[in-house]
Amino acid sequence: MGIVANPYKTTGLLGWIDNRFPLTKLWRTQVAEYYAPKNFNLWYYFGSLALLVLVNQIITGIFLTMHYQPGAETAFDSVQSIMRDVSWGWLIRYMHAMGASAFFIVIYLHMFRGIIYGSHQKPRELIWVFGCFIFLCLMAEAFCGYVLPWGNMSYWGAKVILSLFGAIPFVGESLQVWIQGDYTPAGATLNRLFSFHVIALPLVLLLLVVMHLMALHEVGSNNPDGVEIHDHNDENGVPLDGVPFHPYYTVKDLFGVCVFLLIFFGLIFFAPTGGGLVLEADNMTPANPLVTPPEIHPAWYFGVFYAMLRSVPAFFDTQIWGVIVMFSAVVILFFLPWLDRSGVRSIRYKGGLFKTAVAIFVIDVLVLEYFGMQGINPLFTMITRIATVIYFAFFLLMPFYSKWDKTKPVPQRVTE
Ligand code: HEM
Repeated sequence: MGIVANPYKTTGLLGWIDNRFPLTKLWRTQVAEYYAPKNFNLWYYFGSLALLVLVNQIITGIFLTMHYQPGAETAFDSVQSIMRDVSWGWLIRYMHAMGASAFFIVIYLHMFRGIIYGSHQKPRELIWVFGCFIFLCLMAEAFCGYVLPWGNMSYWGAKVILSLFGAIPFVGESLQVWIQGDYTPAGATLNRLFSFHVIALPLVLLLLVVMHLMALHEVGSNNPDGVEIHDHNDENGVPLDGVPFHPYYTVKDLFGVCVFLLIFFGLIFFAPTGGGLVLEADNMTPANPLVTPPEIHPAWYFGVFYAMLRSVPAFFDTQIWGVIVMFSAVVILFFLPWLDRSGVRSIRYKGGLFKTAVAIFVIDVLVLEYFGMQGINPLFTMITRIATVIYFAFFLLMPFYSKWDKTKPVPQRVTE
């Protein structure tokens, strides 16, 4: 059978490839002739930055894995050796640890952008749902990674989180032992968390990111005005309010990358432990089952969810309700596209009701984050209980206030 001539009439090596693989086709359809709205603002940097951080985590992770040795006896020392003996090991580790925090900052801002511009609304529900799966996967990935240095906080963090499986009725205790591979977090646990962290979860994460972007390119990007650019095309079917992704957004995103890298490396060189938020003092000592740290709290990016977990009292001697509340706080995000009944997408054209709800939600999340990182006392517990109720109210009452909200007329075309 002969070769079908490629429709792009490319010649030489490129032509040879195009006859066998859709390289030019992919470049044209996904980049050079992919039309994105021309009014992207600052909020639209975070998608490409999330990709950048993902690549950073994978590359630095590969180099860390070359020197890290999983095992209860070896893990802590191997990390110390990376910091002291391995050439540039300190930089690789700081880039990976700071990268984890940066990932969550970028993702939280990326998700918030989705909420304020209604990017989860029809027809972008699947982009959002894939995003939520990414978020779940990222949380699991970060948890596994946090345990690997086998410092004392790693150990006790693992103990607290893995014991949540033990709260499941009937099967909980056996399930916990099965997952841990021991009666307490130990070498076996560390080895399985290591394999999840370096291979299983990154594979799933990458697959989900590809699906996320495929769904995005199928329907096209939303924008700060929330208007559909494909509703107004020229005679060639090119959106009047769109610009080719390349070179316009490749250059713009490159600017975002430069600013991000300046801040990122500024922090790595001048505040590598992030004031104890990125690398904690309690994790600088080896895991010790006999010494509980004065306060066990998770990495800062889980503060909101940890606050909710702790806010629920142990009814009938079981923590299961706290676990359900914490898990529901993530699961509820999946339903956002169907909870939001607003007729307009962007917050620019929404009414006071929706704007107030979003403002309260932001303050509420910050309150949960703050108290999630503090010790327990009755006043704090009461505050986090109220904040937990408000968190769920934001989502569960959305079908009502998003419908009652007095929206403004949406322009036909983008405004900038
Ligand atoms: C590894 C993590 C992620 C990566 C690499 C990623 C990447 C991207 C990229 C490159 C874009 C297009 C550029 C942009 O709109 O900023 C995008 C759009 C989008 N992402 Fe993500 N994303 C990730 C996680 C998430 C999560 C966790 C959510 C929500 C739960 C989410 C929701 C969305 C939505 C709704 C859009 C469309 C936005 C619009 O068109 O206005 N993403 N993502």
